[in-house]
Amino acid sequence: MPDNHATMDKIVSLAKRRGFVFPSSEIYGGLNSCWDYGPLGIELKKNIQDFWWREMTYRPNVVGLDASILMAPRVWEASGHVENFTDPLVDCRVCKARFREDELPPEKLEKRQCPNCGNLGSLTDARKFNLMFKTFMGPVEEDAAAIYLRPETAQGIYVNYLNVQTVSRLKVPFGIAQVGKAFRNEITPGNFIFRTREFEQMEMQFFVKPGEDERWFEYWAGQRMDFYRKLGIRSEKLRFKPHGPDELAHYAKAATDIQYEFPFGWSELEGVHNRTDFDLKRHQEYSGKSLLYFDDAANEKFLPYIIETSAGLNRTLLVVLLDAYWEDTEHERVVLRLHPRLAPVKAVICPLVKKDGLAEIAEKITADLQAHFPVLYDQQGSIGKRYYRQDEAGTPYGITVDYQTKEDGTVTLRDRDTLEQVRLPLTALAEEIERRLRVA
Ligand code: GAP
Repeated sequence: MPDNHATMDKIVSLAKRRGFVFPSSEIYGGLNSCWDYGPLGIELKKNIQDFWWREMTYRPNVVGLDASILMAPRVWEASGHVENFTDPLVDCRVCKARFREDELPPEKLEKRQCPNCGNLGSLTDARKFNLMFKTFMGPVEEDAAAIYLRPETAQGIYVNYLNVQTVSRLKVPFGIAQVGKAFRNEITPGNFIFRTREFEQMEMQFFVKPGEDERWFEYWAGQRMDFYRKLGIRSEKLRFKPHGPDELAHYAKAATDIQYEFPFGWSELEGVHNRTDFDLKRHQEYSGKSLLYFDDAANEKFLPYIIETSAGLNRTLLVVLLDAYWEDTEHERVVLRLHPRLAPVKAVICPLVKKDGLAEIAEKITADLQAHFPVLYDQQGSIGKRYYRQDEAGTPYGITVDYQTKEDGTVTLRDRDTLEQVRLPLTALAEEIERRLRVA
């Protein structure tokens, strides 16, 4: 597959131009690393999330949960985040810039040289910087009222796992899935929506019998890689990157990242972790409540091990945009070859001209198709310009209403990628597009 020439700059610009992603609070000059999702962005995000939800929970043994963002502060002591969720922060004494020590190039690190102002010996020693956002609950700003914004959605699942298991009458092995916001006060956010301080995670925690954890870890790693292929991401841009012993998070026995080759290099898209019984053991200890699972078939109690799949929704959206971007030099257009399943708008309906009743027919088709899937009516500019706008927005199908439509009730249906056009009776339109969406 030839290079698609996607750069971060091109994607940021297209995302803004077409209404996928805007800088947050833009009229106030923006807020570092915060982004807003526009009309197409929210649809694309929702489509990715819905597909993830379907893939993960349309199974006999995985159910959903939506836990609150604010949790009892003891949760974060038990989880180890208060103590361990830190990055090594260094300051420049001269220009006051801040860096993560583990991200500094070795030559700069050795000379304690600031990458920003270039001064030698200006970097401080590293100190531990906790990434959790802290705020206060209620009207008093004192330590007793301190509370954290969750840095991962996982803990909401662990503290609810017995509630969910009991009401759903699930037996180990079983899973609980959740999508929601997480917050991290990252020292170096950046690369557009790749690393931000507010983001969304799609996490699933799978509870297994100890001893069966390694097999399930392999199983879920495979399932998660398949997910990205089903989203239409090119296989050669994806790889596993297992963690070495010194890279493992404080809770993990084994972990592998699923990485994508971004324009700035191979980087993490999702983490799959074998968290053992670390979390449940700690919550049992800190809460004083038993979290033992009762296996009635074997008549024994045990703490399950947990296999976690943890994906970033915003990061997946970035990958989807980067991977779908295509400069079609032959036809001088930029196309987002989004999988039709993910495309925010499935078809654009264009009257060839506004007059002679063509606009009215096209509006009627738009209203009819809207009952089946999201579509857009466009009468502005030349037909070529209208299609090229939709090519950039990733709309897979284009429908033109012309004079022949008035005579015989047929329209042309254009394919975004092949540019192939076929003539179809109006009565067959919805069915044909639905058929194509199904097989894509
Ligand atoms: N519960 C485990 C956990 O949170 P993680 O590897 O720290 O694991 C999982 O995060 C995923 O969440 C990452 O692979 C990434 O896709 C996403 N993610 C993490 N930090 C992020 C950030 N600052 N901005 C955007 N996405 C982030």
